[in-house]
Amino acid sequence: MKFVAKTLYGLEKVLAEELVGLGAADVQAVNRAVLFKGDKELLYRVNYCSRTALSVLMPVADFRIKSKDDLYNGGSKIEWDRFMDADDTFSIVPVINSPHFGHTGYAGLILKDAIADYFRKKTGRRPSVDAGDPRILINLHISNDLVTISIDSSVVPLFKRGYRQEQTVAPLNEVLAAGIILLSGWKASATLTDPMCGSGTIPIEAGLIACKIPPGKFRKFFGFQRWKDFDEELFEKIKRGYDKQIGLSPVKIFGSDISEQASLQAKTNVARSGLSDVVSIKVSDFKDLKAIDNQSFLFLNPPYGQRLQPDEIDLLYRMIGTTLKHNFPGTTAWLITSNKESLKNVGLKPKEKHTLFNGALECILLKYEMYQGTKKPMKN
Ligand SMILES: C[S@@+](CC[C@H](N)C(=O)[O-])C[C@H]1O[C@@H](n2cnc3c(N)ncnc32)[C@H](O)[C@@H]1O
Repeated sequence: MKFVAKTLYGLEKVLAEELVGLGAADVQAVNRAVLFKGDKELLYRVNYCSRTALSVLMPVADFRIKSKDDLYNGGSKIEWDRFMDADDTFSIVPVINSPHFGHTGYAGLILKDAIADYFRKKTGRRPSVDAGDPRILINLHISNDLVTISIDSSVVPLFKRGYRQEQTVAPLNEVLAAGIILLSGWKASATLTDPMCGSGTIPIEAGLIACKIPPGKFRKFFGFQRWKDFDEELFEKIKRGYDKQIGLSPVKIFGSDISEQASLQAKTNVARSGLSDVVSIKVSDFKDLKAIDNQSFLFLNPPYGQRLQPDEIDLLYRMIGTTLKHNFPGTTAWLITSNKESLKNVGLKPKEKHTLFNGALECILLKYEMYQGTKKPMKN
């Protein structure tokens, strides 16, 4: 079976590596997605265990069109009763970039008619659309004249892990937080600190990695559980297998924030994820922190500046540079921001740069290696 795992821009390689590790075949990274092959067991496993997939789609047809009618005809040829019954509900998510359709919703309506007519001809009944809580979620992708119709096996996006109740004003997407940690090469053998942790997404995702807790453990539902061929026994066996591997973290993880309210929210989220013994949260200004040892990892997601005055944000980024230089010798620091102007105030030369997206915001992820002794990290 062919599958498509969707992800955020910049995390395609990380997701491809995860999929190989989970046993996927013919893994191919493309823009914001990774194509792979496998069986039903792998589909369940990827949904339960992937930290950087946003959703996993199962393509059921692809064909080329010359007109709108070709979409109806192609959609009618799919054996829909393999996936749903006439009494089921469904919904269609259209993603259209095609000269044949000026209006995205219209393509979805054509496919909806094709599905309804398919069942009406066969059974005299037709499934109804339920946009809020459908039994089957169908993804209609049209790029120029190429139509791909898939069924979404996740439905609720996989970044919705289920542990987050409290969130600060600008929380990181969980998939992005996990992706940054995996991209950094952190392997739970060095302590990890997030000194601007907000609601605690980075420390929690790091804790899940360190304790080998599958990211799907807190979720109540995956789309494939409503499929006609859902194998509950197989899914339970997969979950038991991974849950058995959950263990103690070999390292401590720290989060702190200048805001008392943010720290409280982070503590609540840490407790909800069962990581209170692994992740410690406290209130602190970053400038007052010092490295715990000389080989730890630091992850910084500072404010981007939308809610601060320009000079305040520049001062904040300058403080980050000075604190890293003076208080964190030997530390590998990763910083993600969308504010490229203020970033110049950090004044350190990055070892690596990656472009990522935090929602619609283009961000840059930088790696700084803070040397001890004579090697100077400062630009000038
Ligand atoms: C973009 S938010 C971090 C969001 C977080 N990654 C999450 O997922 O919820 C930036 C955080 O930096 C904190 N902050 C701002 N200045 C700080 C400082 N000087 N020291 C420590 N934290 C600071 C803010 O209170 C805010 O919670």
